[in-house]
Amino acid sequence: MIIANWKMNGSKDLIKDWITSVSENIKIQDEKECVFCPPVGYLNLSIELIKEKELGIKLGSQLIESNLSQPLTGGVSPEMLVDLGCEYAIIGHSEQRTYYNENDSQLINKIEAAIEENIKPIYCIGENSEQKKNGTKQEVLMKQLDLIKSNYLSHLVVAYEPIWAIGTGENAEVSHINETHAFIKEYIKTISNTANEIPVVYGGSVNLNNYKEIYSSELVNGLLIGGASLEPINFSIIYNQS
Ligand code: 13P
Repeated sequence: MIIANWKMNGSKDLIKDWITSVSENIKIQDEKECVFCPPVGYLNLSIELIKEKELGIKLGSQLIESNLSQPLTGGVSPEMLVDLGCEYAIIGHSEQRTYYNENDSQLINKIEAAIEENIKPIYCIGENSEQKKNGTKQEVLMKQLDLIKSNYLSHLVVAYEPIWAIGTGENAEVSHINETHAFIKEYIKTISNTANEIPVVYGGSVNLNNYKEIYSSELVNGLLIGGASLEPINFSIIYNQS
């Protein structure tokens, strides 16, 4: 699966141009999902255009609220996302863990709230450069993976996004990605060894020069692309040729 995470980028015109260009250049395959995650303010416009072009791209939200029992200014509930045509939601992105101070219990609630409405969480995990240096990557990942309960297993996508690789132009080496994805897949099996394998996708400075090598690993089930997803022709090439 190939996922475009636009983060806080875009405008109505850019969304229109991107969807028009992608619809002319991409060849969607049933067995390889393509997910577009624009800012929430553009979800409605995006789904209308995707439908108009019969594009076959799925929609994902960058935001989802789990605190549903009280008035909440600014909240975007899972029901609203379903109403808007979303099938996925990014949860636990390192930028939100940092700037929105998201903690583990909020993340568990978000994952649960999403799954209850049949929205698939794209659950992001990853170590920072300090943790990479001091050799605590596996402990960090285990703690993040401990939030996954066995009844989530058929609903979830895990995104391994080493924080030091996000937006830096310094993607992880394929050997690092392979070793880490193998670890994640093994650790997930300890949650339930009868479970189907959860897709594990990689994100962090994926671009036109490195996507092929990264995606060629059989341990990499997809790519979560930030900056390089903004350019529609490049994004279409990455999708078509990965
Ligand atoms: P970049 O591809 O810009 O490094 O962003 C990765 C990311 O955070 C996607 O969620």
